[in-house]
Amino acid sequence: MRLLLLGSGGREHAMAWKIAQSPKVEKLYIAPGNAGTELVGENVNIKATDFEAIKTFALEKGIDMIVVGPEDPLVKGIYDFFTEDITTRHIAIIGPSMKGAQLEGSKEFAKEFMQRYDIPTARYKSVTKENLEEGIAFLETLKAPYVLKADGLCAGKGVLILPTLEDAKFELNAMLSGMFGQASATVVIEEFIKGIECSVFVLTDGKSYKVLPVAKDYKRIGEGDTGLNTGGMGSVTPVPFADEAFMEKVRTRIIEPTIRGLQEEEIAYKGFIFLGLFNMDGEPLVVEYNVRMGDPETESVMLRIQSDLVELLEGIWNEDLDSRTLEIDPRTAACVMMVSGGYPEAYEKGFPITGFNLAEKSDSILFHAGTTKKDGQTVTDGGRVIAVCSYGENKEEALAQSYKVANIISFENKYFRRDIGFDL
Ligand code: GLY
Repeated sequence: MRLLLLGSGGREHAMAWKIAQSPKVEKLYIAPGNAGTELVGENVNIKATDFEAIKTFALEKGIDMIVVGPEDPLVKGIYDFFTEDITTRHIAIIGPSMKGAQLEGSKEFAKEFMQRYDIPTARYKSVTKENLEEGIAFLETLKAPYVLKADGLCAGKGVLILPTLEDAKFELNAMLSGMFGQASATVVIEEFIKGIECSVFVLTDGKSYKVLPVAKDYKRIGEGDTGLNTGGMGSVTPVPFADEAFMEKVRTRIIEPTIRGLQEEEIAYKGFIFLGLFNMDGEPLVVEYNVRMGDPETESVMLRIQSDLVELLEGIWNEDLDSRTLEIDPRTAACVMMVSGGYPEAYEKGFPITGFNLAEKSDSILFHAGTTKKDGQTVTDGGRVIAVCSYGENKEEALAQSYKVANIISFENKYFRRDIGFDL
């Protein structure tokens, strides 16, 4: 098979690494990729949202399957673009239709969907300038802190958690007045839920499903989960509290109603469902849906998939996923994200990265998140730079190995959290 993977982060390097191991793969392209994906496939300089250029390339190279890494192309309708075009509809697209991608692209859509299918989630009210008074009244029924979510995609920045009612009212007005442009023309006000989060990843062909290893990510920049939110500073899988009793509830109360809802509403969905969940005293609650894999969860999850991922992706496209096998490695996998100093605020790029030779001799696997090549040398090219991933018999062992290698890899102003997994 000839595959094209869209995206350029650590998630895509991890997916490319796993896909490239499949004996079914004759050729793997990554668009646009990074300095890491180049090690397992061929990078193509096309943006993941440039559908016309992707189509031309896919036809020219005889691509059989396109795997979509990030949410942007999905929300913009890449599935529909390819499946509705007679010249490209033979190409398998792994991802939901544009309507299905609304589960991530619109918080309001996701909340209404969950309400329709009785899927457990926090109480909410959807507000625009037109019903602002109702929004304020709803805020007044809640207890601090107050959660405001921009309806549309905001590159992970659209959620505000405010300590006082006064702050919440002020920020609600600011959001509706364009704080995040059109993405916050509608705001979802949500009841604050206390609990520990985990990420559940589901493969679905729209009828049946398989659950990938459950992971936990660490979003804050500072140790002890303090400071600003980032794209993710590390991840661990498995998650001890996501035991069989918890997962049985996740399957029956969340995953199965979600797939039933997609079917009832005739929403085409052939891809990944990422459930951001809260564990509230053993009861799972949906924080959010995403329509892609998580980053940096993918970097550790891929290590634990023993089966051929391409075989599973074929099952998604052919709608016979239930006849495919998913074997999971029982070991723990942990990922530590090395980031540029200053991230998630301003940071510099272009610093040479050293230590790859030594790291390669270790038992860790490096996934590049924000790197590029300059004059033949790998240099930093983003806030998140390298994910150091390792196996272990337990999280302590996996993390100790990742930290050993994180100390070997070097670039100016490097930073990483030294407490990944601290709360598990
Ligand atoms: N790690 C969270 C996300 O990918 O959205």
